[in-house]
Amino acid sequence: MVGKTILVTSGKGGVGCSTVAVRLALAFARRGVTTLLGDLAWGNPAQDVLCGLAERVVYDVRDVLCARVDPRRASLPVVSVQNLTLLPGTTVFDGVPGDAEVIRLFETLRGGFDQDVMILDVPKETVTVLSEFADVTLAVTDFSTASLRATAALNFSQRATVRAVFNRYPTDREKTKIYPTVREAIDLAGLPLAAILFDDPRLPQDDEISPGQFPERPLLDAPCKNLSVRLTGGHAPLLTGLIRGRKRQKTLAQMGKRRLENA
Ligand SMILES: Nc1ncnc2c1ncn2[C@@H]1O[C@H](COP(=O)(O)OP(=O)(O)O)[C@@H](O)[C@H]1O
Ligand SMILES: [Mg+2]
Repeated sequence: MVGKTILVTSGKGGVGCSTVAVRLALAFARRGVTTLLGDLAWGNPAQDVLCGLAERVVYDVRDVLCARVDPRRASLPVVSVQNLTLLPGTTVFDGVPGDAEVIRLFETLRGGFDQDVMILDVPKETVTVLSEFADVTLAVTDFSTASLRATAALNFSQRATVRAVFNRYPTDREKTKIYPTVREAIDLAGLPLAAILFDDPRLPQDDEISPGQFPERPLLDAPCKNLSVRLTGGHAPLLTGLIRGRKRQKTLAQMGKRRLENA
């Protein structure tokens, strides 16, 4: 049986839901945590391409949903990454499966694998019902008002544990100042914050030129590694953890002062 179950979803398309799912899976796997990445984006899968396995897919999640194959037979090891296994998504699907079918699929996957962590890339139509059963649900958004509003409009089970992941924080924000602040974004999304990933202009090229290779990308990898640590009960900074020593002390002192001023 799978240890911990994590759903990754988004209110709006194109904001990085699949990217966050695969990067978080990668972060767990690199820490030696055995990880299953499942693609439940009905008719619109991405993970097989991102993991460089598009040509190798024989069975997919639809075959498991219809109980045509054992979930283990439908899964593939991600060649370039130890400890990472992919259950590919289906290109053929009209609409989304019903609640009962999705719950049965979730239980089949949870019981059918023995990985430490299972991460599912899930569309918003499916997350409503599954969020009740997963340990954590992560709602990915960028800093656009449209995406933040779509995040606030997502429906989750009342028993779900839901956190926001902010993606594509511009590294040159100080110069542009066109985005809402993190605090404003939290307010708009209406969810507690789990992680902030930076915008990395080199990422889309990686996806195209070397799918499945995952060269080091600290702007995403550091926040994802820290998120993976926090999700398994450890302590790690929200961002990179790169502020150390005297600069860290100064930053903390400033924060303390500000808190006193605001009190
Ligand atoms: N942090 C990031 N920095 C740069 N590009 C990103 C980042 N996150 C996602 N992207 C790019 O945005 C596009 C959409 O991402 P994707 O994960 O497919 O979104 P979704 O699954 O929400 O539709 C992809 O081309 C991806 O490479
Ligand atoms: Mg996607």
